[in-house]
Amino acid sequence: MDLFSEIEEPEREELKRLRKELEEQNYKYYVLNQPTMSDREFDEKMHRLQALEALYPDMFDPKSPTQHVGSDLGKKGFEQVKHKYPMLSLANSYSREEIEDWVRKLPSNVEIVCELKYDGLSISLWYEHGVLVKALTRGDGQQGDDVIANIKTIPSIPWRIERNDVPDFFELRGEVLLPWERFEALNKAREEQEEPLFANPRNAASGTLKLQDPKEVARRGLDAYLYYMIGENLPGTTHYERLETAKAWGFHISDAIKVCHSVDEVMAYIAYWDTERKNLPVATDGIVLKVNDLREQEELGYTAKTPRWAIAYKFPAEKQLTLLKEITYQVGRTGVVTPVANLEPVQLSGTIVQRATLHNEDFIKSLDIRPGDHVWVEKGGEIIPKITGKEEKPTPDPSLKGRQMFSFPTHCPECGAELIRVPGEAAWRCPNEAGCPPQIKGKIEHFVSRKAMDIEGLGEETIDLLYRQGLLKNIADIYDLKPEDIASQERLGEKSAQNMLAGIKASKQVPWNRVLFALGIRMVGETTAKKIAKRYHSIDLLQWATAEQLCAIEDVGPQIAENIVKYFEDLGNLEILERLRQAGLQMEGEAAEEPTSDKLAGKSIVISGTFSHHSRDEYKALIETHGGKNSGSVSKKTSFILAGENMGPEKRKKAEDLGIPLVSEEEFMQMIEL
Ligand code: IVH
Repeated sequence: MDLFSEIEEPEREELKRLRKELEEQNYKYYVLNQPTMSDREFDEKMHRLQALEALYPDMFDPKSPTQHVGSDLGKKGFEQVKHKYPMLSLANSYSREEIEDWVRKLPSNVEIVCELKYDGLSISLWYEHGVLVKALTRGDGQQGDDVIANIKTIPSIPWRIERNDVPDFFELRGEVLLPWERFEALNKAREEQEEPLFANPRNAASGTLKLQDPKEVARRGLDAYLYYMIGENLPGTTHYERLETAKAWGFHISDAIKVCHSVDEVMAYIAYWDTERKNLPVATDGIVLKVNDLREQEELGYTAKTPRWAIAYKFPAEKQLTLLKEITYQVGRTGVVTPVANLEPVQLSGTIVQRATLHNEDFIKSLDIRPGDHVWVEKGGEIIPKITGKEEKPTPDPSLKGRQMFSFPTHCPECGAELIRVPGEAAWRCPNEAGCPPQIKGKIEHFVSRKAMDIEGLGEETIDLLYRQGLLKNIADIYDLKPEDIASQERLGEKSAQNMLAGIKASKQVPWNRVLFALGIRMVGETTAKKIAKRYHSIDLLQWATAEQLCAIEDVGPQIAENIVKYFEDLGNLEILERLRQAGLQMEGEAAEEPTSDKLAGKSIVISGTFSHHSRDEYKALIETHGGKNSGSVSKKTSFILAGENMGPEKRKKAEDLGIPLVSEEEFMQMIEL
């Protein structure tokens, strides 16, 4: 290997890793509504990826997250509609310098409209002859879900505009939001029901908009602000005028819009709203700068993902300084011991914070954080707040214990086992997987969770209860639970006992790939489990696989392979597996084929005729692999017909009558080409 390739190799690896990580984040953000990274971190990683892609043009990939906006497609039950104008995102900036840079590239004496950046999800409203006919989510930017029934529950969105000066067609785009007050009430109710909480109003709004029950949507109380009008032959020559027009037509347009003429004016607007936004009823995360003149906008145009005529400025994450009273330790499902800061309570982004993560030993040591210090606490997009730094300030209470240098515990605070630190990892772990209470309970919680065995009625509290009584010591014990064990619990009535037992029984039908995921082998997530189950059709085959053989599976690296091999070397695990087998769980089977792209998502395709490149079955598999649906008969729901030679005359006639396009083999291959 020469010197250059030695430098190149790690960067190429980093590039690939970033692509994967950002793709995953996009999915968590847009589909699951559960981001695990702050916007800022996401942007920094995206910039790094862009820089690496510029360095290694030979690694260009049209599927890279730098080349497309994230997608929230994939929710069932809504009609997917192609946007008339793509729904793009905005380039982000974080400083005066970045704004100056952007302004420098604009025509001189340009007028800039400053608006608040509302932190919800974008919506595109279509009005035909003054009537609301569609309400589309951004989706993948090209097509979105029509959620009109849910949008109609928002009182400030007119269903019809009774005026004679509205154009035949126009589109208004804006942001759907769940006001703070509604968000807090919703989370409180969810807490009472033991349902998972929404991390922030944005996620709550997104989850709400995708509900199939408009009545429930109405109860939750969404709101919307509109900020962009598009269409042909619309009134006005500036963005500002258009928004004024929309306001006159009865739309909810923010009052915080200002036309600015210099960077100083823009910065003054930012400074004002960075404080004042805390008094707003909805969440905002920055401001948006837009070139006012529509002709200038047109001349500036677009990049693949963003308009050049607009840019977002993101407010720095809100943070507070508070007293660190004590450091405690929390042991997670996988045995990772996380240091937790117990704080003097502070108000932060609308909630009171008293606990925050201190990440790991290295973080605490590098900042020399000790009880009695004043620390900065921040809340990104996540539920769990974090400590980001400290401030030198005399402690108000010198008697606070622990002014001595911080040292990480050597033994598990839960079970007393000696902690280990895996080389290359920042975390300390408790190795006592089978005997450490939070690990045992965590494993059981994972096992019963929705994507694993999906056993309803066996929640965190019930697991804790049964664990403390010695009825549930591992996952196999679930299948030995007797009706009387459950019914005799004070908190659980007969009805919950029945539900739980029905859930346990039904879990015996859960397919093998999910059973494998449910076992909780370290780093074997849902997707990896599916890939392993596709290669190994039974646990008996998997049990004898070597690390080398396992590494041949896509997504399985040496670390995962080692975890699997170790799992099967543990006699305790083998005993549990045997009990699960006796209980009748599915320990073999074939994992279903998963779509690998969404090129044909939402399309219903009929195959007809004879083909020369692939067999019918192969085409069927290709359709499914790309997210489409193969259907046997032509109807008005058919998206197109994959037509070979000698297509049946009846089908051809029906397709003609319904105006359904015919697609040849070659065209189809082009469509799905990666
Ligand atoms: S304008 C083509 N204005 O921010 C430009 N977007 O990060 C269209 N957003 O997808 C967007 N407040 O969902 C615009 N005042 C505002 C906004 C705003 C929030 C959202 C919007 C967009 C995202 C980009």
